[in-house]
Amino acid sequence: MLMSIDRISKSYNAFPHPPAKVLNDVTISVGAGEALGLVGESGSGKSTIAKCMLALIKPEKGSITYDGIDVIHAAGKDLRRFRREVQMVFQDPYGSLNPRMTVEELIGEGLLVHRLEPTAAARRDRVAEMLEMVGLNPNDMARYTRSFSGGQRQRIAIARALVIRPRILVCDEPVAALDVSVQAQVINLLQDMQRKLNLAIVFVAHDLAVVRHLCEKIVVLHKGEVVEQGSRREIFENAKMPYTRSLLAAVPVPDPAAGRARRAARRLETAT
Ligand SMILES: Nc1ncnc2c1ncn2[C@@H]1O[C@H](COP(=O)(O)OP(=O)(O)OP(=O)(O)O)[C@@H](O)[C@H]1O
Ligand SMILES: [Mg+2]
Repeated sequence: MLMSIDRISKSYNAFPHPPAKVLNDVTISVGAGEALGLVGESGSGKSTIAKCMLALIKPEKGSITYDGIDVIHAAGKDLRRFRREVQMVFQDPYGSLNPRMTVEELIGEGLLVHRLEPTAAARRDRVAEMLEMVGLNPNDMARYTRSFSGGQRQRIAIARALVIRPRILVCDEPVAALDVSVQAQVINLLQDMQRKLNLAIVFVAHDLAVVRHLCEKIVVLHKGEVVEQGSRREIFENAKMPYTRSLLAAVPVPDPAAGRARRAARRLETAT
């Protein structure tokens, strides 16, 4: 396994109340090149797990291992390698990209920080290559992100994460803020990247429909605990927990006619 999370627990300080336990004995593993879906209702602890995986916060109990590195106690060279090889994409493509930086600066930043390309020209070539890879025009690298759509910004965020060749990409609700018609495009792009780059992806979502296409392994989280996990097939065809089924039932379009009507209404909305 590329990353193993073993029995982690996490509480947040809630002074003057006792600390609130938000993760309890969570065990998850991510294999190289694998797309893992992490689903659960709001407040179930998905983002807390994502932050632990990125070493942005530390669990009080349990261990996290990434390719031989003890993530919770890592320092120096190990931590630097971890910081390069495990990257992230967040939900909000508006808040996560600095509006004062050009696309070239945004995507090239990681190359500078990790000293991966020797010259400015080499950095620029690499940025152009990334723009092309995520389906954007390299000629746009001098522009600022304010003139890009939500979907395009998320493509920029993905290019920014992938430019330094990570092995795991942790995506916390990366399509939740996007128009429904754009969501599938971004998911397809992530799948493309996963296959082309042998990239492992951890994809956080609150409903199962979003992870269905991309993730071959799915972990279901409820109140800070893993209540079910399995292959896509096991979860979609034979979910054991009623809670898992309710996450499936939350998916829109329970009846096709209503779905068609809703899609038609949406098309009208976007057309005007
Ligand atoms: N910094 C914090 N301090 C205190 N409590 C927190 C903090 N961050 C999260 N929590 C609480 O921990 C629980 C889990 O939060 P988390 O953000 O991990 O859930 P989530 O599954 O990502 O939810 P959502 O789908 O709404 O993003 C929630 O009850 C939340 O209120
Ligand atoms: Mg969250």
